[in-house]
Amino acid sequence: MFTFTSIVRAALLVGSLLPTVRSATIEVAVGANGLKYDPEFVVAAPGDLVRFTFRSKNHTVSQSTFEAPCVRAPGGFDTGFIPVDPALTDGFPTAELPISSTDPIWVFCNQGTHCSAGGMVFAINPGDQFANFKANAVSAAPPAGSASSAAPSATPSAPASPSASSAPAAPSGTGTTHTVRVGEAGGLTFSPTNVKAAVGDRILFTFASKNHSLTQSSLNSPCSSNGGFDSGFQFVDPGLTSNFPQYEITINSTEAIWAYCAQGQHCANGMVFSVNAADTGDRSFQAFQDRAKATAQGGNGGYGSPNNDGSAASISISFIGGAAALLASALLL
Ligand SMILES: *[C@@H]1O[C@H](CO)[C@@H](O)[C@H](O)[C@H]1NC(C)=O
Ligand SMILES: *[C@@H]1O[C@H](CO)[C@@H](O)[C@H](O)[C@H]1NC(C)=O
Ligand SMILES: *[C@@H]1O[C@H](CO)[C@@H](O)[C@H](O)[C@H]1NC(C)=O
Repeated sequence: MFTFTSIVRAALLVGSLLPTVRSATIEVAVGANGLKYDPEFVVAAPGDLVRFTFRSKNHTVSQSTFEAPCVRAPGGFDTGFIPVDPALTDGFPTAELPISSTDPIWVFCNQGTHCSAGGMVFAINPGDQFANFKANAVSAAPPAGSASSAAPSATPSAPASPSASSAPAAPSGTGTTHTVRVGEAGGLTFSPTNVKAAVGDRILFTFASKNHSLTQSSLNSPCSSNGGFDSGFQFVDPGLTSNFPQYEITINSTEAIWAYCAQGQHCANGMVFSVNAADTGDRSFQAFQDRAKATAQGGNGGYGSPNNDGSAASISISFIGGAAALLASALLL
């Protein structure tokens, strides 16, 4: 695993041997002015460095793909969530990405619906495709003017009440309703553990025992809310024989959805759920559950935590991921 500091050093070393490699530093502000990277795209040459400065809130710089703008690219780089103290006036956290080719690099903010509703995306060397990339990002969101009040807010939803009013706008008439049992026979389980669903489908969760929740998380932080949907805790009276509490979600995109039970150590015990997870590999249900078990409740998976000790010095974040390692080895060829 490479930190960017060592990559940068490698780049500078190689750069000194190869006169054609220049090294400009290109500055990008993250969240300086709303849900935006500023500028929204840059043109960079091999040897350049793109420096992101996190100016507000709690954003990420996460690599995605042109086809799926709001989903982390397998093995792509990621700063993890970088919270910025609202009182901070300088010494903002930064992350640096060395550029090793002129190929396009696609980036999004992985916080809540910043990407899918806010269009918070960024690109390096997008050619003439930036507008299309951004359009792809927000088309994952439901159409404007749909039934639910379409505020792109990341606040958890109200506790579940039997569906109806909470059912958001999907293309009407086409959806299948999938059913999932939560805590069947007293177990710490979602049954089934993964559902394959199409856009417009609904998933109806029935809480069968104990006091569980269905809370949306992310592939990298299985046991932390990502600010998405949340049923809240659904207590089931042990004497109940009918009218079990229910909660429904509507599928708005074909992107995978990750969720967990937020009760005590249930998630760390593997009580997680997914929609449209891959059959195998690191985006599979199994990989997600393994990560949940390896993560203490409330942990964030260890991606780029800034170790903020409150000092004013700027904090350098390490990107984690295969792409960074690839960049480093390409530079060292
Ligand atoms: C359900 O769990 C939550 C979180 O642990 C707790 O605050 C709440 O009191 C529980 N409800 C009941 C009825 O036990
Ligand atoms: C930043 O956002 C992540 C994901 O939503 C969340 O888990 C984390 O608690 C947030 N950090 C702070 C300090 O708000
Ligand atoms: C689908 O979009 C609606 C409206 O924005 C939102 O409330 C709901 O949580 C989304 N569904 C999922 C699974 O994210």
